[in-house]
This record gives sequence, C-alpha cells and structure tokens, in this order.
Amino acid sequence: EKGGYEHFMHKEIHEQPRAYQDTMRGRVDETGKKVVLPDFHMTDEQIKNIRNIQIIACGTAYHAGLVGRTVIERLVRIPVETDVASEYRYRSPIITPETLVIVVSQSGETADTLAALREAHANGAHVLAITNVVGSSIARDADDVIATLAGPEIAVASTKAYTSQLIAFYLLGLYFAQVRGTQTEAQVAETLAAMQALPEQVESILAREGEAKVHAENFSAQKHLFFIGRGLDYAAAQEGSLKLKEISYIHSEAYAAGELKHGTLALIEDGVPVIALATEQALIEKTVSNIKEVKARGGVVLTICYEEDAKELMKSVDSVFTIPKTLPLLTASLSVVALQLLSYYASLSLGLDVDKPRNLAKSVTVE
Ligand code: F6R
Repeated sequence: EKGGYEHFMHKEIHEQPRAYQDTMRGRVDETGKKVVLPDFHMTDEQIKNIRNIQIIACGTAYHAGLVGRTVIERLVRIPVETDVASEYRYRSPIITPETLVIVVSQSGETADTLAALREAHANGAHVLAITNVVGSSIARDADDVIATLAGPEIAVASTKAYTSQLIAFYLLGLYFAQVRGTQTEAQVAETLAAMQALPEQVESILAREGEAKVHAENFSAQKHLFFIGRGLDYAAAQEGSLKLKEISYIHSEAYAAGELKHGTLALIEDGVPVIALATEQALIEKTVSNIKEVKARGGVVLTICYEEDAKELMKSVDSVFTIPKTLPLLTASLSVVALQLLSYYASLSLGLDVDKPRNLAKSVTVE
C-alpha cells in the first residue's frame, strides 16, 4: 500500500505532481486559457458583490489559507483575512451578507473548522469549502465545495493535501478575477500556463531529493532552527516550520524576514541554522539584507531560491537548494516541496516515526 516507499509521507510527497494535475483537471477549459468551475453555485452577481473574504482553517490548512489570502488579494483586490478556526469563532467575527467565508480542511471533519463554518452560516455568510473529502461534514454543510483531488492522505503530516489546496486557491482566484474583470484574459492564460508546468517542476525537485537529505542531515542535530521569508515566502516558511516541528521535534519558528530585528535576532548565535526562502523577486534584496543580519551573528543559512539567483545569493549564504522558476504568485507550490523533503529527511535521520509523530492524530475531532 506504500507503493514501494518506506513511509506514507514519502509516497505522498511524490504523489504531488499527480495531485496537482488531478486538482486542475476539468477546471480549465479546452483552450487552456480560462478557469471553469462546473459545480459552482455562486452566481456571477454574488461574486461581484463580495466585499470581503475570511479564510478559516487549522494547522497546515491554515497555512494554505495564508497563501490563499495573498493569491486572492493580488488577483482580485478583495480584502482577505485568514484566521485559525479556534480563534475565529471567539472574536465575534464581523460578517455581512457580502462576506464570503472559505473554510479549508483536508479531512473535512476538523471540529474547530466545522464549528467556525456553522458560526459563519448562522451569521448569514456564504460558505465555500476547500476539502479533500467530498462526503465529509464540512463538504456537506458548505454552500459550495472545491474538492482537492489529492487522494487519501495517510501520513499525519500533510503534504499533498496542502499543495492541492494551493492549486484550489489559484483556480478560485483566477475564476473570481475572470468574473470581476480584475485580470486580463492574457494574464489568466499566462498563470494557467505556468500552473500546467508545475507538476514537471515538482518532479525536477523530487529528482534532487538526495541534496535535500544532505542539508537535513546537516541541521538535524540542532535544537532550534528558524525559517525566514517575505510575502509568499513567509507563508511557505510557516508551513515548512510546522512540518519540521511535527515530525522531527526540532523547535523551529517561522519569521517574517523583516521582523527578525525586532527581537528574534537575539536568539541567533553561532551555528543556529536558518532556512531563508528567497524567491519573491520583488523582495529579494530586502531578504538578502536580513540574511546578512543573520550571518553577522553566526547563523548558518540555507537558502531556497531560483537557479538564476543562486550564484548571487551564494555570496551571502552557506548553502542553497534551488527550485525551478515560476510566476511569483505560484512560488509556494514549489518551495514547500523542498521544505517537505527537508523535514522528511530530518525526521528519518533522527530515527523518528515519520508517519505517526508523537501526540498527534490525523484528524482532530475535538475542540
Ligand atoms: C499538519 C497537519 C495538521 C492539519 C490540521 C487540519 O501536517 O496535518 O496541522 O492540517 O489538523 O486538518 P484538516 O485539514 O483535516 O482540517
């Protein structure tokens, strides 16, 4: 059942190119230039009337929601907030009939997310679910569902479900942009073409997992580690950090690169590993200056960046893991794959139970 892999997590990491394709299939028209969502109930009128969007989820799905926020804001220019479900409910969220609530859940059974969905419904919001289980409670209760077609996810640490959630957000953002006219046809077509290239690009990262293994073995004996990045790199950093904590038990924190100097830099001393994501082209120079702050305190920096930037970045960092270039909007769907591999190999090298980390359950049905 593990299809020749030693662990489900490893298998599921490798299933991502297929999961990307399956999640896109049938949702792009035959010209390849337009998003179609055949089962969508929201009318164009409703979509045009959306005033704000609230994305609610837990854990890894929450991190997908952080990417979703940036994706929708960049493509559609609607204000979006993303919150964890267990906090959302108790802050008397401001919901109007023009609020769209998006809940994200792999299992569709997470108690906090389900309760938040019901709270949003009770307040009159239209609720859209992005879920991997179409018969789940969350899918049943929602007004609209975009199914991620990642296939069953067995490992406790979520991988292919997360990246499929990103694909769902790209599709949703493009669809809204088509309806509201916030992107030209050419822009939508360009993004879709870049999305079609992602599966092969993921393959090319997976083909270099031996490199990721070496990097992971270099830091796995450490007790603390930091991830830094800006923009979508920061969102991806947060997911990378959770993944590492979850299965390697290494304490890690993800920091917005520009925020380090407001306190956390005090923790950087000789030998502390820092994984710096530097793919957001518009922000790369700023990230490099943050990397230099870390290096000046003795931090050991591994950078995740595009091949074309590697040479320049090598002047400031200790090592690089490169990923193929994509559009800025799509970067997390490649960088996270590298981070998943780092976590996997860190856990493996520490001899831990990769698929069933201590204290954790696959689906959390208590609040
Ligand atoms: C981490 C992980 C969890 C889940 C979270 C939400 O790898 O899997 O953080 O993402 O418990 O679960 P779902 O998506 O099923 O609602």
